[in-house]
Amino acid sequence: MTLPTYKEMWQQADEVWTRTARAARTLIKVGVATCSRVVGAEETLETLRREVQARRLDADVMLTGCLGLCYAEPLVEVIRPNVPGILYQHMTADKVASLLETAVVADGIAREHALAVMGDKESGGLPSLGSLEFMRGQVRRLMANCGVTDPESIDHYLARGGYEGLVGALRLKPVEVIDEVKKSGLWGRGGAAFSTGLKWEFLYNAKRKPKYLICNADEGDPGSFVNRNLMESDPQLLVEGMIIGGYATEADKGCIYIRDEYPLPVERMELAVAQARERGLVGEGILGSDFSFELEVVRGAGSYVCGDETGLLSSLEDRRGMPKIKPPFPAQAGVFAMPSNINNVESYTNVPLIMRHGADWWAEMGSEKHKGTKMFSLSGQIQRVGILEVPLGTPTSDVVMRMGGGPPKGRKLKAVQPGGPLSGVIPASDVDIPLEPDPYRERGVLMGSGGLVILDDTNCIVDLCVYFEWFAEDESCGRCTTCFAGTRRMLEILRRISSGRGRLADLELIKLLGSIAQNANCFHGQGAPTAVMSMFRFFEGELLEHVERKRCPAKVCRGLVRYEVLHHSDRLPAAEAICPTNAVVRDNGTYRIDQLKCIKCDACREQAPYAIAVVDEFAPA
Ligand SMILES: Cc1cc2nc3c(=O)[nH]c(=O)nc-3n(C[C@H](O)[C@H](O)[C@H](O)COP(=O)(O)O)c2cc1C
Ligand code: SF4
Ligand code: SF4
Repeated sequence: MTLPTYKEMWQQADEVWTRTARAARTLIKVGVATCSRVVGAEETLETLRREVQARRLDADVMLTGCLGLCYAEPLVEVIRPNVPGILYQHMTADKVASLLETAVVADGIAREHALAVMGDKESGGLPSLGSLEFMRGQVRRLMANCGVTDPESIDHYLARGGYEGLVGALRLKPVEVIDEVKKSGLWGRGGAAFSTGLKWEFLYNAKRKPKYLICNADEGDPGSFVNRNLMESDPQLLVEGMIIGGYATEADKGCIYIRDEYPLPVERMELAVAQARERGLVGEGILGSDFSFELEVVRGAGSYVCGDETGLLSSLEDRRGMPKIKPPFPAQAGVFAMPSNINNVESYTNVPLIMRHGADWWAEMGSEKHKGTKMFSLSGQIQRVGILEVPLGTPTSDVVMRMGGGPPKGRKLKAVQPGGPLSGVIPASDVDIPLEPDPYRERGVLMGSGGLVILDDTNCIVDLCVYFEWFAEDESCGRCTTCFAGTRRMLEILRRISSGRGRLADLELIKLLGSIAQNANCFHGQGAPTAVMSMFRFFEGELLEHVERKRCPAKVCRGLVRYEVLHHSDRLPAAEAICPTNAVVRDNGTYRIDQLKCIKCDACREQAPYAIAVVDEFAPA
């Protein structure tokens, strides 16, 4: 079989893309990714396909990835010939018929669901997508294809400049590719912020064969979903980044290790690798060169510490996902004791852009010290949950308060957790600091891999630490006593404090456990006390309220609150009906809570929020 050249591939792809992007008939795009799937995007897509066919409409329906506006999903874009597309939000399947009637048959705008006009110009009384608060200030380089192209089409990727970076790299020597990556200043986006070019040099210099290039797509931090979006919305970008990495490091085989809880990324990455192989971009003699590189997708083992690079190596070897002891480092003896390199998804996906446009172009974005853009996911107590891409150094407040809209109306920002349970938190008073590693590090916090979780005044800092410590204890692999027993001991103490039995001596014990944890083997154990240390540093007053006055100011810690009926309301019978323990009691026409029966599940207050309140358990009468 003769494989096409890059030019032939591009020409064929361009025809496919032109037919889509400048179509003579209506094009309807539906974003299907994990975030939209859970609110019914697949049903929307199926219904649209069925209805367009049944009504014999002059329109095509196309699958696309996630634009990052998760708060508005399912999103549907309707593009009439020769006019910019209109983006419709919350388009569940039941709204499809009326959308088609108004936006396609009548050639109008379905205003009640219209969010924006695509591009930067307002039109028809609708704002442009670029002018939405969520989008203003974003620089979409990695996300350029997300929600724009069909993630299952290699042609769409090729037509928009895909694999140009690989073609450029193959014209250089491997060391020259590494030099370009080093020159860009790209550092690993997985949390440790170590130079990607330098890591590649370590593997290049390792001479034992075979050499392995591994992608860490475990993304286990609760609240992080940037890697997921890249794999679901533009999987070829990762394939290209890994092939370039394979060429630069002279690796023989690549492996994309994806967490088991990510079925859609697994599906789309497997398809992307298969399509790349079909076109001669993976396998023997890539693009007619003498460079060969195999690439495989591997499902993870469902454990948080498999995200640690050496835990991942153990898991790849079919062993228990236990982080190894370093040295030896992966470049010396990685998977199957052979030289290996591990990078995060976002690290690899930056490389095609560096090779396509050059390191200087790439480094134009970012701060003085930290170059490039960075993707962040927003979740927790925030109005606009989503995924965005901004230059490194953008103020955290710009992303959280303006783009994300801050906490729900009437609530106050309390803290931001930037990078998972091991990262710690910054208080609201520091929310203006730039999103780059140093200002976070100065506050004893890690910027991490990009999962921003927002906390407001309804969250309790002690309760949060209980959760993080429980998570750390539950996910510990069990190798080090300082980690598996240290986190358990810390959890016991924190639970004691949150249940009202805390004592001042506990605070010293927590600090002692925090310093002992530094002797753990991997960063899971070492980082486990970070959130607790943030609590001491920024929220000591709230902690002391729990310990000394037995009060939880946010009224969250169950041992420190009770439920009371404070007012009469006609919602009280509903509260009585829903209580699982019959603790809402009616005596002579008035209601009260039987404290011995109440398990503090909050169901009654949700039914009768005016009548039932959460009060301090130990407040003076
Ligand atoms: C407990 C633990 C979990 C981790 N989880 C991830 C993860 O899910 N994804 C990731 O890229 N890095 C994770 N890391 C960091 C990796 O060990 C490693 O630094 C990273 O994959 C290197 O890639 P980079 O240089 O491109 O950032 C984790 C580290 C620890 C200690
Ligand atoms: S620090 Fe914890 S997760 Fe890491 S090797 Fe030790 S026990 Fe395992
Ligand atoms: S908090 Fe739960 S258990 Fe307690 S009274 Fe209300 S519904 Fe019943």
